[in-house]
Order: sequence, then C-alpha cells, then structure tokens
Amino acid sequence: MPERLITPLIVIVLILGSLLALRSTNSSSVTPVPVSSVAALVPDRVPLVTGDEPIAEIFTRAGCAVCHSVPGIPGADGRVGPPLLLGTTGPARLADPAYRGHAKTVHDYVIESVIEPGVFVVPGYPAGTMPTWYGAKLSALALEKIASYLERQGVTAAQ
Ligand code: HEC
Repeated sequence: MPERLITPLIVIVLILGSLLALRSTNSSSVTPVPVSSVAALVPDRVPLVTGDEPIAEIFTRAGCAVCHSVPGIPGADGRVGPPLLLGTTGPARLADPAYRGHAKTVHDYVIESVIEPGVFVVPGYPAGTMPTWYGAKLSALALEKIASYLERQGVTAAQ
C-alpha cells in the first residue's frame, strides 16, 4: 500500500473510533428507563417522545401505560384512568351533554384529552390526575399516532 494512503487511513479509523465511542456513551446516558410507576411520572423523568418509536414504545415511554390499559400494548394495564377503548367510548364522550370541548371527531377528542385533560373529565375517574404537561413531551407525530391507534380500539376487539 502506498505510504501516502496510510495517514488518511489512520485518520479515518480514529474518527470512526471516536464516533462509535460517542454513540455508545450517548445511548447509555439518554436511554430512558420506561416509566413504570405513577411516582416516576414527573416531567423530568419522562423523555421526549418523537413519534418515530414503535407504537408500544410511545405509550410506555410517555407513561400512559402506568395509568391506562391499552389493547395490544404489552404491560399497559394501568387502572388509574379508564381503559383506552376510544373506538367505543369516544363517540359516547362527544355525545355527552356535559362535554364542552372543541373536538368533533374521536381522533381530535383523543388529542384534546392528552393535551388538555381538564376540558372533559371522564365520569367516575379522578380529575386533575392525568398529567397536564404532555403537550411539552409528545411531538405532533407522536400525538397523531396515539390518536390513530386509540380511535381504532373498541370494547369488542383490538383491530
Ligand atoms: C397519572 C395517570 C395518567 C397518565 C400517566 C395518563 N393518563 Fe390519561 N387519564 C387519566 C385519568 C385519571 C383519566 C380520566 C379523568 C380525565 O378525563 O381526566 C384519563 C383520561 C384519558 C383519556 C380520555 C379517555 C376517555 O375514555 O374519554 C385519554 C384519551 C387519555 N387519558 C389518554 C392518555 C394518554 C395517551 C396518555 C399518555 C400520553 C395518558 N392518558 C397518561 C390518568 C392518566
């Protein structure tokens, strides 16, 4: 191998090496621990959810799974809030005379419920319990995916 090629080769190897080292320290320091208890649900402990994650990870990362059961999401068996069966419950909420929100579709109702949970409190469940800071943690894409997933879940079956 000609000598003039060796120096650039060493430089490339060094750069690759430090990139790899950077990647591994990065991922170990930012890998979020999935939120597994209501006590851990403080904004500082909940990572940003970009929406690029697999759907199950969106629900577990954000901590929804701690308080809600969600069909098809492993480990989502929380009992603090209602089971998220919006395909069935969504139309009932919109038709509820006590509903004062702005949503006209189940999709928008889900987004409203996540961003502004105080707009409508599901009867039989505690007010002021669902976190109010999800607007700062969930990207628009994550919200869209959550709404699209939940509006398809019904009492009879997860479709
Ligand atoms: C600390 C517990 C808690 C967490 C975490 C939580 N919720 Fe809730 N959620 C509740 C409670 C309690 C209610 C019912 C009272 C109310 O309407 O505010 C509720 C209501 C809802 C509703 C309305 C359901 C219906 O049947 O009309 C939706 C939708 C919802 N949550 C979605 C989510 C999503 C998505 C996440 C995660 C991004 C999440 N929640 C995280 C406690 C929680």
